[in-house]
Amino acid sequence: MIKKLIFLLAFFAFSNAFSQSSSDLGDDKYRPNMGQSGKDVIWIPTGNELVNKMLKIANVGPSDLLYDLGAGDGKIAIAAARDFGARAVGIEFNPDMAALGQRNAERAGVANKVKIIQGDIFKEDFSKATVITLYLLPELNQQLRPTILKMKPGTRVVSHAFDMGDWQPDAEIDSPAKGYFWIVPANVSGEWALDSFDSKSSTILNLSQKFQYVGGNLTLGKKTQPILNADLKGDRLQFSYIDDMNNLRTVRLSFNGSNIKGEENSNYMIREFSGFKR
Ligand SMILES: C[S@@+](CC[C@H](N)C(=O)[O-])C[C@H]1O[C@@H](n2cnc3c(N)ncnc32)[C@H](O)[C@@H]1O
Repeated sequence: MIKKLIFLLAFFAFSNAFSQSSSDLGDDKYRPNMGQSGKDVIWIPTGNELVNKMLKIANVGPSDLLYDLGAGDGKIAIAAARDFGARAVGIEFNPDMAALGQRNAERAGVANKVKIIQGDIFKEDFSKATVITLYLLPELNQQLRPTILKMKPGTRVVSHAFDMGDWQPDAEIDSPAKGYFWIVPANVSGEWALDSFDSKSSTILNLSQKFQYVGGNLTLGKKTQPILNADLKGDRLQFSYIDDMNNLRTVRLSFNGSNIKGEENSNYMIREFSGFKR
């Protein structure tokens, strides 16, 4: 009951879903009711304008595989394929709703790119997704968060109405309803040895991390100094430091498990190096 109340309050406060007329809902085989019960959350469709903004903020394109967790009538998965060229899977617990979603995909001419499957978002494997969309509840987002954070770094996540607790979003949508956008960060914390970063001395990069927020220091020979303006997006980290000639240098790293590839802009030249986790 409380879950339903939270959802309806958020819905009435922010959503433009009622811009969808009741004649848009369902077909001659199945006519769902706005607000009908679902396994963990009721069904209310995201409004068309917000669907478009969610897919745009996630930069969805033809190389993406989008999963809509709790797919309802399939509208987000269908829009991802029809308007952005992506492949998409919707996971919907209600079998009538999932079947309606698949018929909607056929009517939209994107059945070759869209599958709406009947399943439970807490049991189905969505680890291959490059983009995830959600319109659930705060506590469901929190339950999914550990699984999402283990996904491939760079996976984009967009949630209608509800945030992810203390995992701050990378961007937000404010209108016509609230949306939140995250990029799954790589796990970069720890001590990294950088090979051939500096010809004279060994280089150690120490990083600490809370989600996409990163701090740390760089030890070049005997000198340790903080890294500046660290910016982690997926598996890419950029930061600056001040070298022994007092020049501000910028370093770009990409992380692949326990290996790093990097480049540094110095004296108008790009210097490449590699590294590994100690
Ligand atoms: C608020 S609606 C969102 C529908 C669609 N994603 C959209 O934004 O238009 C949530 C949907 O999740 C479904 N659902 C609830 N619990 C689920 C679960 N455990 N697994 C899969 N689907 C679920 C409901 O049946 C409902 O259709």
